[in-house]
Amino acid sequence: MKIILLGPPGAGKGTQAASIREKYGIPHISTGDIFRENVRLGSPLGVEARKYMDAGQLVPDNLVVSMVADRLEKPDCVRGFLLDGFPRTLPQAEALDSYLTSKGTVLDGVILLDVDDETVVLRLSGRRVCRACGQIYHSTFKPSRSGNRCEVCGGETYQRDDDTEKVIRNRLTVYHQQTTPLISFYKEKGILRAVDAKASSGNVMNAIESLCANRS
Ligand code: AP5
Ligand code: MG
Repeated sequence: MKIILLGPPGAGKGTQAASIREKYGIPHISTGDIFRENVRLGSPLGVEARKYMDAGQLVPDNLVVSMVADRLEKPDCVRGFLLDGFPRTLPQAEALDSYLTSKGTVLDGVILLDVDDETVVLRLSGRRVCRACGQIYHSTFKPSRSGNRCEVCGGETYQRDDDTEKVIRNRLTVYHQQTTPLISFYKEKGILRAVDAKASSGNVMNAIESLCANRS
């Protein structure tokens, strides 16, 4: 299964991706996570990407596209993949199409997690993430039972640098300007399915599961 999770920052892409990966056994490829790992390691890609991420801007297409193409070459992608946060611009979507065509394959579907801006601000302002395993929490909606520690692995939880209200609002503006054109792009291909992402995490996952079960 080759699918994309599309949606604004804070829609719940990372949260749902963890369940989808577990249920369908496909790798979860989050461009944001790959960039943050590069920032942590201080790699040249990380140093370059950080300038954009801290401001809530998109990293230039050429850097993202080659990074994803490299990742899709890894053996674990043979059975499929789940893309989270990629593509985010029309040139990225077109590059992905060309890449898949060159491999003789196509996407099975694009799941749009639909949520309003104020819900996003509320979700991202309270988000906490485990430094060690990446588990996602929320100070109100999903607090860790271990306080400032991850209840899964005991790692420290932290607030992402780009989860301040000012940067969240910039990310939303960028989403509306640069990423929403992808909704029509995939609608025209007949592979876009929208899910109400304001619902509880469990209900969102149920909706995704029924879309995956009924995909043609
Ligand atoms: P990225 O890491 O992809 O960030 P994003 O798109 O802004 O999305 P988030 O990770 O913030 O939100 P999410 O949808 O995963 O929500 P989550 O599940 O965590 O990208 C970061 C940056 O990297 C970009 O700004 C850009 O600079 C760069 N970048 C990445 N990809 C790029 C690309 N392709 N091109 C160019 N640049 C790129 O949930 C959020 C919170 O809500 C959590 O606290 C969670 O517990 C809570 N929550 C989730 N679901 C629910 C629910 N149903 N009910 C209540 N609470 C919920
Ligand atoms: Mg995410």
